[in-house]
Amino acid sequence: MAFEFCLGVALLLSVCSPAKSDYIPDGVLHMECRDRYFMIAVDLSFTGEEPRFEAVEGTGLYPITEQYAAKCGYSVSVFPLWGHVELRASYFSCHTGNKDDEVFTFNFNLITNHEEKEVTFALNKTCSPSLPWSPREVTCEENYMEVSVRSEVPCPSGTKKEDWDAVKPAHSSTTSDWQVMFQRAEEQLMPLTLSEARKRGYVFDLTNGRLVFRTPYGQPDSFSTEVNGVLVEVVHATLFSRQSWVVLMVDLVAACSMPVLGVKSTDEGSYDNGYMMWETPEALHPLVSGLQDTQVNIGVDGELVEQPVAEERGYIVEKDNTTVQISIPCNAEGGYRKSTVTDDLFEFYIFNLYLEQILVDEDQVETRLRFHRKLATPLLPCPVFTANQTVLEERLFTVYLGNIPEDVELAAVQLNGQDFTIPFTNASMHTMTKVVHPNNTHGYTLKVPLDDPVVIQQVKFSKADAVLQYRLDINYTLTVLPENEPFYHFTTVTALFTDVSPPVFDAICSESGISFKLDRRPFDYLWYISIGSDLLTSELAAQHGYIMSNDSQSLLLDVPLYTHGYEYKDISLKGFLGTFEILVRDHETSEVQSSTVKTCLFTTSELIMCSTDGRMTVVADLSLAMPSGGIPARTNLIDKYCGPKEADDTRALFSFPLNSCGAIVKLGKENVTYQNEISYSKKYLSVSKAASEDTTEKITVQCTYPLAGLHRLFSVHRFESDTVGSGSIVHNARSTADPQIPTIKPTTALQTTPATKRPTRPPIAFLPSVRPPVRYIRVTRVPNFNGMRKGAEGTLQTKVSAVEI
Ligand SMILES: *[C@@H]1O[C@H](CO)[C@@H](O)[C@H](O)[C@H]1NC(C)=O
Ligand SMILES: *[C@@H]1O[C@H](CO)[C@@H](O)[C@H](O)[C@H]1NC(C)=O
Ligand SMILES: *[C@@H]1O[C@H](CO)[C@@H](O)[C@H](O)[C@H]1NC(C)=O
Ligand SMILES: *[C@@H]1O[C@H](CO)[C@@H](O)[C@H](O)[C@H]1NC(C)=O
Ligand SMILES: *[C@@H]1O[C@H](CO)[C@@H](O)[C@H](O)[C@H]1NC(C)=O
Ligand SMILES: *[C@@H]1O[C@H](CO)[C@@H](O)[C@H](O)[C@H]1NC(C)=O
Ligand SMILES: *[C@@H]1O[C@H](CO)[C@@H](O)[C@H](O)[C@H]1NC(C)=O
Ligand SMILES: *[C@@H]1O[C@H](CO)[C@@H](O)[C@H](O)[C@H]1NC(C)=O
Repeated sequence: MAFEFCLGVALLLSVCSPAKSDYIPDGVLHMECRDRYFMIAVDLSFTGEEPRFEAVEGTGLYPITEQYAAKCGYSVSVFPLWGHVELRASYFSCHTGNKDDEVFTFNFNLITNHEEKEVTFALNKTCSPSLPWSPREVTCEENYMEVSVRSEVPCPSGTKKEDWDAVKPAHSSTTSDWQVMFQRAEEQLMPLTLSEARKRGYVFDLTNGRLVFRTPYGQPDSFSTEVNGVLVEVVHATLFSRQSWVVLMVDLVAACSMPVLGVKSTDEGSYDNGYMMWETPEALHPLVSGLQDTQVNIGVDGELVEQPVAEERGYIVEKDNTTVQISIPCNAEGGYRKSTVTDDLFEFYIFNLYLEQILVDEDQVETRLRFHRKLATPLLPCPVFTANQTVLEERLFTVYLGNIPEDVELAAVQLNGQDFTIPFTNASMHTMTKVVHPNNTHGYTLKVPLDDPVVIQQVKFSKADAVLQYRLDINYTLTVLPENEPFYHFTTVTALFTDVSPPVFDAICSESGISFKLDRRPFDYLWYISIGSDLLTSELAAQHGYIMSNDSQSLLLDVPLYTHGYEYKDISLKGFLGTFEILVRDHETSEVQSSTVKTCLFTTSELIMCSTDGRMTVVADLSLAMPSGGIPARTNLIDKYCGPKEADDTRALFSFPLNSCGAIVKLGKENVTYQNEISYSKKYLSVSKAASEDTTEKITVQCTYPLAGLHRLFSVHRFESDTVGSGSIVHNARSTADPQIPTIKPTTALQTTPATKRPTRPPIAFLPSVRPPVRYIRVTRVPNFNGMRKGAEGTLQTKVSAVEI
């Protein structure tokens, strides 16, 4: 170097010598010669979060700090997204060896910092740029502007060549005489010596054939100007030397377009419809005027290609009103895409734009202008979507979650509130399959059978129709890698089946009861079957004496007469009506959705019923009580004016208020009994016949009610019982051996016994009188009848034994 401006700046000299033992694994370090700079890239995984560099010159070590880099021609960028740190060192940087502007050598140290341990690696790179230097070159780096001009330039037409020829010898002889004067618009600032200028952050250098000027951005002597709507920062330095009779002057103008306003401070460019845009004026400064032609070369990762090649790759280069506008498609090679979460998923793109403009003025003097710019799009919404691919016939929910960027993964999924990790365990009925697309997105297909326990099933009723709805709420948890930042995507899918109605039983009457049959359908599980309010189960059936058989085809239920759940009415000598009802209820609300009611006519020889409204209804077999030739129609109660309502050859039917017809009321501690007797009216009995008969029978009929269930009897004198009474018909034998004092011997007892308490309506329970065999029948509940919703409860117990004479 013929000429050095040294060095008013105290540089930190480190005395530590680099540790040489550590070695750098293959593939971690990349050192390349680019046309105007060294490119050093090191993987962050090797260097740790904050690697440092220091330039080495001779024995001097010069840490490349932010400030020092801007002044001395270094540019260090950490790209966490790419996973590397990049150091660009200009061939004219302060500590680069320069041989004839042709061979450049850069010695530097890389200092890594892993787990608090610093390790220094000594590295070097030598480059010979293949591209010849243009007369004027301007580099707009991210952190500085650098201008170099050939020190021997043919003088522009009309100016004196000698002025330029004189520059170099003049420097060589009296270096200290050189001064610099910065110019801002119309104003000229006070001249500075070169060492003063260096203190202010400016570097002037003279290489073998070039004069170099470098300045950080934002210097006090800089000014901004707007060229075609683009802000340009300019530093205009005039070097001059006054030597006896001649003044030598060199005008150095560094001008670079500045970040577009409104974009994040560190990044530049604007975004429009899938394109990252950046623009710069064709001519940055009037001093670069009289343009004849400009050529643009573009590179995204350091490699420059000519405009047509760039356009083939999708770049758009437009020159409009002397502005060059570059549009880079977001998916262009060399760009970097990153997902990020702010409530929802967003993405942004970053490009390291490298742009070269070649300008030729009217004197055919070429200027090369280079930009290094980091361009970033704003946060762009990156919506993931779900598509319902369900086919009802498959009885399977199929849901596709798509448009998921490469750096996003599905971590978990919540199905109707239940958490599942991905991948699912083999045991689950549902599956999740990843689908990868060529456009660098992927998706997931979720399949959940409708019968999967996580699926919610709901029956909805509208007018007459019922619909069955399956619902699946899906809450996807997606995470952005590598930060594992989560976000959620929620969707609901439903499947509707419309031909759904609650089941209805077939029913047939038999002598001994009612048989119900239900043919099974797949969705019958939506309802449950109840008798009154009790769920029908095999236990309940066993408890009440129902006979149930249940398989996949059908449900059969035989309900014997007098079992729990029957309701009786229309009692006559011919028989009575027994009704049984099966209810079908909604699982969730327990609402009755349908019912099957069957009423059958049954016959019996004897029965007694004690209703809740205080009526006794009796069908009694009088064959034994009557003398031969007696007519049951001529029997009566204790009050002889109370006759039967109906009678045939052997039986009579009485129905009367309990407390009438001469009833005997027996009040016990806990219950009250109304007793009456059926007997053959004396007026019809001839003495001879009466005497001739060995035995005759008095029939005692009685109803017993628990006192606790009678609320109104003693207050308003109206009979109203919570429960039916228990009735009995007792046939008493009368012996002829002692006609005056008849032996009373119970022979047959017919009895009804209510058990549980339940408000009821009459008539409720009654009791058949069947002669042998002996049996007990319990009915714990009387079901709804004729649409009446209130069930009545009671017990009906019959004990029938043989008549002993
Ligand atoms: C440059 O690095 C190489 C190894 O990469 C080494 O062999 C050589 O000695 C180094 N040169 C200097 C001047 O440090
Ligand atoms: C072109 O640039 C000139 C100078 O900056 C400006 O006055 C003019 O409005 C611009 N025209 C268009 C179409 O942008
Ligand atoms: C799950 O199923 C796959 C294939 O059917 C099998 O390879 C894998 O071992 C199973 N995993 C477990 C944990 O059972
Ligand atoms: C990627 O390809 C898939 C499948 O062709 C498509 O569904 C998706 O919308 C595409 N995504 C983008 C961002 O182009
Ligand atoms: C999805 O799950 C997340 C985490 O459990 C929760 O914060 C979010 O509210 C859920 N989204 C919906 C719509 O339920
Ligand atoms: C999903 O697809 C099924 C089957 O095609 C359809 O019945 C249902 O209405 C669709 N929509 C939703 C939101 O589930
Ligand atoms: C009949 O069996 C099916 C299963 O086979 C069961 O789901 C249903 O509850 C059973 N019904 C009754 C009333 O027990
Ligand atoms: C009537 O009450 C008595 C006790 O006072 C009891 O032993 C009897 O079983 C009751 N009768 C009926 C039919 O409830």
